[in-house]
Amino acid sequence: MPYPRIRIEDAAHHTGEPVEIAGWLYNLRKSGKIVFPLLRDGTGIMQCVAVKANLDEALFETLKNLTQESALILRGKLRAEQRAPGGYEMDVEGAEIVDRVPESDPYPITPKEHGPDFLMDHRHLWLRSKRQHSVIRVRHEVIKAVRDYFDSHGFTLVDTPIFTPAACEGTTTLFEVNYFDDEKVFLTQSGQLYNEADAMAFGKVYCFGPTFRAEKSKTRRHLTEFWMVEPEMAYATLDDVKQLAEDLIVFVVGRVLENRRTELQALERDISKLETVKAPFPRMSYDDAVKALQARGSEIQWGGDFGGPDETMITEGLDRPLLVDRYPTQVKAFYFEPDPDRPELALGVDVIAPEGYGELIGGGQRIHNLNLLLKRLEEHKLPPEAFNWYIDLRKYGSVPHAGFGMGIERFVAWMCGLEHIRETIPYPRMLYRTRP
Ligand code: 4AD
Ligand code: MG
Repeated sequence: MPYPRIRIEDAAHHTGEPVEIAGWLYNLRKSGKIVFPLLRDGTGIMQCVAVKANLDEALFETLKNLTQESALILRGKLRAEQRAPGGYEMDVEGAEIVDRVPESDPYPITPKEHGPDFLMDHRHLWLRSKRQHSVIRVRHEVIKAVRDYFDSHGFTLVDTPIFTPAACEGTTTLFEVNYFDDEKVFLTQSGQLYNEADAMAFGKVYCFGPTFRAEKSKTRRHLTEFWMVEPEMAYATLDDVKQLAEDLIVFVVGRVLENRRTELQALERDISKLETVKAPFPRMSYDDAVKALQARGSEIQWGGDFGGPDETMITEGLDRPLLVDRYPTQVKAFYFEPDPDRPELALGVDVIAPEGYGELIGGGQRIHNLNLLLKRLEEHKLPPEAFNWYIDLRKYGSVPHAGFGMGIERFVAWMCGLEHIRETIPYPRMLYRTRP
C-alpha cells in the first residue's frame, strides 16, 4: 500500500487515509504495550500511536527505545482525535529510522527547565522547540503582512544599502567596518536617507532589511542587529505618517490574529489584548506626555527623552498603541522638520505599544529646505562631504516628505507577549552575544 507524504499542518485533509510523515521525535510516552511517539515535521506536532500487537517486534522495540530528536519517517492512518495536540492522531503501521541520536551524546535540550543562557548557546537547536517555533512563525506572518500592506497601498520596494558612508541616527551607535584601502564605512542604522532619495523618484517607497546599532545598553528591548521596515512618502506631512502608522499596525495585528491563532495559543498569549487594537489610537503631544508622566511620579523633565520605564508608564491602562508627537528638536536626529509655530519642536512621532513593549515606530517629517538642512548638519557636526547626495535632494525639486521606521522584533515581541526581544529573531545579536 502506498503512503503518500503529507505535512502535519495538512492533516485535516487526509483523515482516514494512509500517509507518511517525515520528521523528528519530539517526545515519547510509553505505556506497556503501546508507545506514543510525538512526531514533529516543522509544520506541527502529531501524536502517533504504535501498538505492539500491530507491528513487527523489532520495529516496536526500536520505536520504544528511540531517543529524542532522532530523525524518522512514520507511516499509518490518520484519525481525528479531539484530545490530541493538533486534533489528529496517527495509528502507526510502519516506520523508518533515518538517523538515531545515540544515548552517549543525547540531545542537549530536554523537557526540563533550562536557563536562558544555556538555551541561547543552543539556539541552533532551540529553534526546534514548540515555543520558539511559534514565535518564528508569528514573525513570518508579521513580515508577510507588512509587505502585503505596502505592496497593496501603492508603495514600491526600493532596497537601501547596508554599507554606508554616513550616520543617519547619530554617530554614537555606528558600527565601523574596514572597507578596501583603509576606507571606513559603517553598517546602516536606517535606510531612511536613501528612502528620501527614492521617494523623490517613486513617490511612495519602502525598504525592509537588517539595521545595526552599536547600543551598549543591555535591555530587553535592544538588539545590535534588527530588522526594520521603513516607508517614505513625497508630498507628505507628519499627519500622513501618523495615519499610515495606525493603519499599518491595525492591518498587521489583524493578520496575526487571523492566521496565527494556534501559535499565539501555544505561547499562552492573552489574545483579548490584541483584539482591542483598532483605530483610532489615542494621540498626545510630547508636552502633555511629560505632564502626564510627572503626575504619575516620573522624574522626566521637559526636554528629556523618554526612557523605557516612561514608555511603559505612559501607556498604562491603554488597550492599543499611543501616538506621541512633537518632541523637542534637541533629543531628535538632525533631519526633522521643525514645527513652524514652535521651532523648538520636531515634527516627529513615536508610536508606543501597550503592555510595556515600548516604542514600535519612530518617524516624522523631514527638513526640505536646503539652508536649514546645511545648518543642522553643522550643528550636529556631521561631515557635509558624506551628505552631498542627500543635500542634492534639497536642490532638485525639494518637497515636504515624511516617513517612519518600524522595528520588526519589537512588534513580534508585543504580538507574542514575550519578556525579552531576543526570542523574536532566529539568531539574536546583542551586547554580549554574537553566537551561534
Ligand atoms: O526610532 P528609530 O531610531 O528611527 C529611525 O531609525 C528612523 N530613521 C526611521 C525612519 O524614519 N525611517 O528606529 C525605528 C524603530 C524603533 O521604533 C524600534 O521599533 C526599532 O526601530 N529599534 C530597535 N529595535 C530593536 N533593537 C534596537 N536597538 C532598536 N532601535 C530601534
Ligand atoms: Mg526612536
